[in-house]
Parts: sequence; structure tokens; C-alpha cells
Amino acid sequence: MEREKLFSVKMRSSAAGEHISGAETIVPESEVEKTVLSFLNRARNHSRGSPDFINIKVEEIKEEPLRAPLLPVFHLEGAPPELLKLLFPLAGIPLELGLKTYELLLSGPAPGGRVMRGAMVVEVPTGRRLEPDKERGIRASTLGITDSAQRELKEKAGKFYTENLKDALILTTKINLFPGVLAELCISDDPEYTTGYISISGLGYFRLFNVKPPGHPKGGRAIFVKRGISIPDLVSFLQKKPFLATSFPAYRFGLPETFRS
Ligand code: COA
Repeated sequence: MEREKLFSVKMRSSAAGEHISGAETIVPESEVEKTVLSFLNRARNHSRGSPDFINIKVEEIKEEPLRAPLLPVFHLEGAPPELLKLLFPLAGIPLELGLKTYELLLSGPAPGGRVMRGAMVVEVPTGRRLEPDKERGIRASTLGITDSAQRELKEKAGKFYTENLKDALILTTKINLFPGVLAELCISDDPEYTTGYISISGLGYFRLFNVKPPGHPKGGRAIFVKRGISIPDLVSFLQKKPFLATSFPAYRFGLPETFRS
């Protein structure tokens, strides 16, 4: 039997030209209407305020998506700077560079200390910033999750499941699949949202609570890459290659046994 066509559905909203929220997924043709409606509701009910502009884009996926499992999640209690001191070296990132990048995200990585519209790209170990535009950064897009993987994630994460976790996990799993990406560090710029993460390629998604003080209006994303990576290839993969998460391995508490020193 022929497979049902797949569609990318993307939503972004803004008010007075300021970005408020974005969401996206990949669904079979029969689920497009339902998805558009749910994104419309999501755009209208955002903690950052009501939008005066909502863009919903529906586009057929012509290329066979890359399919892969989500990264496993490690739920970590404890002070993020202390946890990051353990996690940066695991990712092959010198501690000093990792902590400097963390501070930069908190102080605003765009010129003038503003937040960026996408991620910065940090070369390891030099610390050189490789994103072509330091206001915009680069963004991962054209991604989604199968129904069965979403059910698995909800079941395994239990009361710790949130839509933010799902969205971030899909996004960062895709980012970490590009050869030469070592890790991604993320701190939301939403003042009320203080949960962040560092994801490490091939290892997992380390969920960090209280990654910034409540009310702090800055944050962002940093993608750490090996020297010699092709930035045009990375940008093209992250923006355009369709990615579908197909399963979820595990939601665990604490650091993996083998990482404890
Ligand atoms: N933050 C701030 N502004 C954003 C944005 C974001 N996350 N996503 C889109 N915009 C604004 C920008 O002004 C952008 O212009 P630019 O490309 O010069 O930065 C403009 O909207 C158009 O962006 P585009 O990528 O063409 O939007 P789209 O209609 O294809 O929708 C989203 C893309 C919003 C669905 C996608 O970016 C998304 O899901 N974002 C949420 C997840 C996220 O934060 N991703 C960042 C990963 S590093």
C-alpha cells in the first residue's frame, strides 16, 4: 500500500514585530486540519501575550525524512553550574569554554547583549563563533515525531512530561545527528521558564532545572561543533532535512552510572 503523504506544519506568531512563539511538526495528510487548529490555539494562548500576527505554513514533504530515536533524557537535580562542570568534559568541551558560553547566553549573545533569533555555533576547542549572522544565528526546523514515539515519551516521562520537553527533545536530537556536532546548550529567553538542558551527541539530553534565576529575560542556544565542520552543510541540514523521531529510549533520574566520578 502506498504511504500517506507527509506534510510539514509550521506556526509562528508575533506582536508589534516581536517574535512570541513558534511550533512545528510533520504529520500525515489526514492530520493537517487538526494540527493547524491546535497550532492556532497554541499561538493565541501564549504566556508572552496575544499576537497581532500568526503565520501558519503547510508544505508537503517531498524528501524521505531522516528517522531516528530521540536522545534518552537524564533528569538532574542540583545546581546547574556544578552539573555543567561534569557535563562539558563529557561532551569533549573544555570547561572554561563551556562556562564562558553559558555566561554569554545569560548575558545575551547578540551584539549589544541582545538575544539571538537562533543558535550561536561555537567551535571546539578554539571558541570561535561560526554562525554567519550574530543577530540571527541558525535554527533547526522541518521536524516532527511519530504518534507512537510521542506516546512512549509521555508514558516514560510520566508527570515530568511537558510540551516544551517534547519540542526541545525533537529539535536537539536532530541537531546532534549532524556529524561533527558535539553538544547543544539551551537556556530559554522566556523570563518565566527556568528549565534548560545540555544535550550531548550519542549520550543524552540532560535536563537542568533552575538553569537561570526566575524573571531573567535572556537566554539562547549554543551548538558546539568540532573544528573543520562545514557551516553551509550544517545550516542546510538543520533547516531543510526533514526529521522524524521514531521512538524514545528512556527517562532516567540522575547521571548515568558510568559517568559518576
Ligand atoms: N525566534 C525568534 N524569531 C523567530 C524564530 C525564533 N525561534 N523563528 C522564526 N522567527 C522570526 C524571525 O524574524 C524570522 O526571520 P529570520 O529568518 O531572519 O530570523 C522569521 O520569523 C521567519 O522565520 P522562518 O524560519 O522563515 O519561519 P517559519 O514560518 O518557517 O517557522 C518556526 C519556523 C517558527 C516554526 C521554527 O523556527 C520553530 O519551530 N521555532 C521554535 C523552535 C525554536 O526555537 N527553534 C530554534 C532552534 S535553534
